[in-house]
Amino acid sequence: MSKPIIAFAADHAGYSLKDTLLEEMRAAGFGVVDLGTDSPQSVDYPDYANILAKCLAAGEADLGVAICGTGIGISMAANRHPHIRCALIHDETGARLTRLHNDANVIAFGARVIGIEVARAALTTFVATPFEGGRHARRVEKLQQIG
Ligand code: RB5
Repeated sequence: MSKPIIAFAADHAGYSLKDTLLEEMRAAGFGVVDLGTDSPQSVDYPDYANILAKCLAAGEADLGVAICGTGIGISMAANRHPHIRCALIHDETGARLTRLHNDANVIAFGARVIGIEVARAALTTFVATPFEGGRHARRVEKLQQIG
């Protein structure tokens, strides 16, 4: 993949980390799409997962970043969409392996449980790591057949 376009979506618990990561990725030369939210006013994480899923389905971005307080709710919501493979990530190793093995197209973070250094390193690795294919392609294909 050439430099991917990255879409960012977060609820009120995640908007600050979302804004920080988005600006850093923009400064690093990536195309970015800001899908909100943009303030600490309470919103519902499924709404932002849905907006992100629609953005990827429309081809407006290649990869997504989904952030809520724990990362759990927004990743659960994102994975209800068949074209989304969202991984809730806590470290750089997970970020690398979920691209290599799962062809994850969305990375989720919990803004209340991860620090900026770890999130930055994980996201930088996520967007730079290609899918390995091979035996993993068969498994991802089986994932797509579920449901
Ligand atoms: C919001 O308070 C919080 O529940 C949400 O950000 C997320 O952590 C849910 O999984």
